[in-house]
Amino acid sequence: MIDIHCHILPGIDDGPRDLKTALKMARLAAKDGITEVVATPHCFDGVYDCQQYDIRNLCKDFDIILQRENIQLRVVPGAEIRLTPEFLDLVEQDKILTLGNFGRDVLLELPDVFLPGAVYELFKLLRNKKVRCIVAHPERNSLILSNNQILEGMVNAGASLQITAGSLTGIFGKEPQVLARKILEMSCSRFLASDGHCIKKRKPVMAKAIKIVRKLVGDEIARKMVLMEFN
Ligand SMILES: [Fe+2]
Repeated sequence: MIDIHCHILPGIDDGPRDLKTALKMARLAAKDGITEVVATPHCFDGVYDCQQYDIRNLCKDFDIILQRENIQLRVVPGAEIRLTPEFLDLVEQDKILTLGNFGRDVLLELPDVFLPGAVYELFKLLRNKKVRCIVAHPERNSLILSNNQILEGMVNAGASLQITAGSLTGIFGKEPQVLARKILEMSCSRFLASDGHCIKKRKPVMAKAIKIVRKLVGDEIARKMVLMEFN
C-alpha cells in the first residue's frame, strides 16, 4: 500500500517531535502493510510553512535511516498545501511540492470556514496544466459536511478526493464516517491515506480501513485507492 498523506518526518510540523517517534511510526506503518509513504508536512496553513528544500532533505535523510534500521518502508517527499489566495501563483512559480516531487499531484487542504467560488475554476485551470488537485480529507471539512454538493462540483472540475483511513473506522465521529462511506461509493478518482501524525490516536495505518473499503466497493477499487491507480 502507498500512503499519500502522512506527517512522518521528525520535528518539522505537528507530526513526530523526534526521530525516535518517527521511527516508531515507520515501524507501525510497515507492520500495517504500507510499503511507501509520501511525507506531507503542512505548508501555508497559518501555523506551519515547511519549505520544499527542508522537506526534501529531511526525507532523504530519513529514508537512509529507515534502510539502515532495516525498516521495509520507503519515504518520498510531498506536502499538504493549504488553499490560500496565493495558491495559483505558487503553483505557477513552481513553489509547491507535489506528491513524490513528480510535478503531477498536489495534496490540497481546504479552509474550514470559507470556500472561494473560484475554487472550481482553479481545479479546471490546473487540470489543463496537467496538475491534479487531490483534496485532503473532504469528509472532515465542515463546509463540505454541511453541503455535500461541493464534492460533486470539485469532482466535476477535475479534483480527486483523499479519504482518511481513520474517518472510515470512526475515530473522528459519526458524521465524517458517514460522508467517507458516501465518497467511497461516488464514481470518481479517490484515494485512501492515513494522515498519520503519531503513534497514538492518529496512527500511520490503513489496513483496518482498507477492509471496510473492500467490503463496501470491492477489491478492485480498494486496490486502486492504495496504489495511486486512479487517473
Ligand atoms: Fe494532514
